Amino acid sequence: MGGMTALPAPGPTPGLSLGPLRVETPVVLAPMAGVTNAAYRRLCAEQGAGLYVCEMITSRGLVEGDQHTRDMLVFDELETTRSVQLYGTDPVYVGKAAEILCAEYGVAHIDLNFGCPVPKVTRKGGGGALPWKRGLLAEILEHAVAAAAPYDVPVTMKTRKGIDDDHLTYLDAGRIAQESGCAAIALHGRTVVQAYSGAADWDAIAALVAHVDIPVLGNGDIWEAADALRMVEQTGAAGVVVGRGCLGRPWLFRDLAAAFAGEEVATLPTLGEVTAMMRRHAELLCHHLGEERGCKEFRKHVTWYLKGFAAGGEMRRSLGLVATLADLDRLLADLDPDEPFPVAELGAPRGRQGSPRARVVLPEGWLDDADGSGYHLQEEASETTGG
Ligand SMILES: Cc1cc2nc3c(=O)[nH]c(=O)nc-3n(C[C@H](O)[C@H](O)[C@H](O)COP(=O)(O)O)c2cc1C
Repeated sequence: MGGMTALPAPGPTPGLSLGPLRVETPVVLAPMAGVTNAAYRRLCAEQGAGLYVCEMITSRGLVEGDQHTRDMLVFDELETTRSVQLYGTDPVYVGKAAEILCAEYGVAHIDLNFGCPVPKVTRKGGGGALPWKRGLLAEILEHAVAAAAPYDVPVTMKTRKGIDDDHLTYLDAGRIAQESGCAAIALHGRTVVQAYSGAADWDAIAALVAHVDIPVLGNGDIWEAADALRMVEQTGAAGVVVGRGCLGRPWLFRDLAAAFAGEEVATLPTLGEVTAMMRRHAELLCHHLGEERGCKEFRKHVTWYLKGFAAGGEMRRSLGLVATLADLDRLLADLDPDEPFPVAELGAPRGRQGSPRARVVLPEGWLDDADGSGYHLQEEASETTGG
């Protein structure tokens, strides 16, 4: 088979290096707004090993001391490697925000969001729209890297393939990330116009791996640990970023850690084990947010945890209104602890999917010029909901 690249030898895969930061298992919990708060990161970390990224916060909000933004920067006592995703469109604000994260919050990793497809964000040229302005992208990355460098904190970027198939940006973004001193680039194999629809294009991840020297993290449609191994094998990615697959399934991180250690583990919890995990999740949320807010936050996770189980509509509705931990205990006690895991759910997509967007909302004339050096965008303190 002359000329063919050998597949990696079977067995344990080496960990991931992001600049000076060493991650033993090459697995990253994807930043997910409204999900990856301190409680959820701790819950996932109790299961596996990897890097657990805080939900996205806005640079300007942080720099201006916005209370809501500061409130999101909560870390668990056991969270020794603090990782935060920043959103921003203004190089100066992003640089200052990176400095604050390093100096005041002791973060060990900063990721920058250039993938958000939400119209409110792309309308202003932010998120997934921004890499189209290559000069501006470079300026933002350079400011972040320069601010984090004295603290030896690696900066990474996370992006999509492009705005749509006619406006792909990821290869240029990879080169710019590398030239700007980023420690890695994560690629979600969809365009902005696709949002979460269709299938993630892993070939694009492979193309980016071939295009840059910095580590590439592959993202999109990892539902089971075996998918992660397949992605690494097919693309040569240095690691994987897992989002929707772990919604209501924090034990996926246990399976992922095992898979990268060369073992095959597929955790199939009974409903009793799932309710114990739900209780733990709610407890951690209440610990970090207080009981009222914690229970409220927990409600959105109920359908994810119970996906495929027999629990009836009335039970799901009541759990979706849960207000105290005592309420939660009462309700969970009514579920059959011996009900087996619904194996039909394995490998199936979960979380948001939906249809492609009709079009990507962009600033006037955005696509006319792909350079954008010195281009300035108005950045608001609190303008995005992530994605
Ligand atoms: C609820 C939710 C919130 C998200 N918020 C963010 C975010 O704040 N920043 C970001 O870069 N990506 C965000 N994403 C995208 C994910 O990080 C990830 O790129 C995407 O879900 C594809 O990976 P997956 O197929 O493993 O889910 C979000 C996704 C979901 C489902």
